[in-house]
Amino acid sequence: MSVPRPAAVIVLAAGEGTRMKSQTPKVLHELCGRALVDHMLAAARGLGPEQLIVVIGHALERVGGHLAATSPDARAVVQHEQRGTGHAVRTVLEEVGVISGTVLVTYGDVPLMRPQTLAELLERHEAEGNAVTVLTANVPDPTGYGRIIRDESGAVLEIVEDKDASPEQRAIKEMNSGIYAFDGSLLADAVKRVSTDNAQGEEYLTDVLAILRGDGHRVGACVAGDFVEVEGVNDRVQLAAARKVLNQRLLEDHMRAGVTIIDPGSTWIDVGVRIAPDTVIHPGTQLHGDTVIETGAEVGPATTLTDTRVGEGAVVRNAVCDSADIGPEVNVGPYAYLRPGTVLGRKSKAGTFVEMKNTKVGERSKVPHLSYAGDATIGDDVNIGASTVFVNYDGVNKHQTTIRDGAFVGCDTMLVAPVTVNDGAYTAAGSVIVDDVPPGAIGVARARQRNIEKWVLRRRAGTKSAAAAQRALAEQEQQESGK
Ligand code: UD1
Ligand code: CA
Repeated sequence: MSVPRPAAVIVLAAGEGTRMKSQTPKVLHELCGRALVDHMLAAARGLGPEQLIVVIGHALERVGGHLAATSPDARAVVQHEQRGTGHAVRTVLEEVGVISGTVLVTYGDVPLMRPQTLAELLERHEAEGNAVTVLTANVPDPTGYGRIIRDESGAVLEIVEDKDASPEQRAIKEMNSGIYAFDGSLLADAVKRVSTDNAQGEEYLTDVLAILRGDGHRVGACVAGDFVEVEGVNDRVQLAAARKVLNQRLLEDHMRAGVTIIDPGSTWIDVGVRIAPDTVIHPGTQLHGDTVIETGAEVGPATTLTDTRVGEGAVVRNAVCDSADIGPEVNVGPYAYLRPGTVLGRKSKAGTFVEMKNTKVGERSKVPHLSYAGDATIGDDVNIGASTVFVNYDGVNKHQTTIRDGAFVGCDTMLVAPVTVNDGAYTAAGSVIVDDVPPGAIGVARARQRNIEKWVLRRRAGTKSAAAAQRALAEQEQQESGK
């Protein structure tokens, strides 16, 4: 199918969105890793328009700043006062001039709209040679929407707003999505002739249909197959509903592409996430941002990954990872926290109750239990004993620790940075290592143990410990005298 390229897509996003009850402008609220307006811009880009225009007004600086940063291909047009959808379009055409060719007008708060549906609207518009074609939908409850008024033959006569409609018109279930394909030149002329003589005193873009029809032009409609797609987001209840629908779509795409998702109900995946086939996503998993999961990997349960790569065949359980690079066949968790700059080499391990930050771990090296590694470089085939702490912060500055290949760090070692444990060196359990350990040496930094005989019998007399000690000592004496 060849879809005609529109000359322009105009996205209306100047409104305030008061029902969100938010400091954040409505179109910047996020779902599935993207702001509301960015979902529509992504769908619009799918049509390859020559111009992409966004009308902004409310919270000008925040919305404008967001667009400048994330959509350099879009041109922002400022509508200082929101005097209606017709006024918004008129403002654009006054600023950029008459656009000849097809102009698609849509909204910034309709995140479920698919590019295919917009393409169908354009095809219908082109095929019928219409001056305007409106995307409509039959909805169970059309309250609040403009209604599509047709004659007996089914031809579209006009759109009447809910607030201006008669009781008979209100009974009509076919609603105006607010998305239209226009002939750009005819639109430029008609939008100037829209009045404000209506219940809201606004310039209604919807009035352009009746104006064009009155001029003898063809006015058409394209009925969306799925009304869910055309529903806008006005409050946080609708935002949550839209997020759920979009997430389900994304999950289905991944499942059809070969990803096993054990529990779609508790799995959340952002639009930018890439997952290779033959991977398993366990319940309670959230994959955000630019996360990438390679073939054979297993992620979850209860894992949240943001901008993280999981290599082939790696297993990541009960973990929170931000900007981490987890290599192939690596084992992470259960209960691990990998912070930015963590790079885990092939077959390495960041195990249970392990936190890492800005740390590179070599191949086959293991940090299995209860450890913190920050600002460190760990070589290949290193073992870090349980309860090791990389003491990287002196209260003012952060310092580096280097552990070279084949080193063995004993349990409960404090590595006071800057410090290096060289190739094949050991540290004794319980050591506080402040000086470099040479290759093959063992660093021992702890007090020698001394036992004070019968201390408990004297100082803790009458306790269960004293009684247990008494029994054991008596037994020992008996055995010795029996020999
Ligand atoms: C509009 C339509 C209605 C349709 C409904 C679908 C008109 C007159 N009515 O009604 O037929 O059923 O959408 O959701 O068009 N906006 C601007 N500048 C303005 C006014 C609005 O950019 O001056 C933007 C808003 O940010 C919003 C969109 O246009 O994204 C729709 O505006 P809104 O006022 O919500 O129109 P509705 O009353 O919902
Ligand atoms: Ca609306």
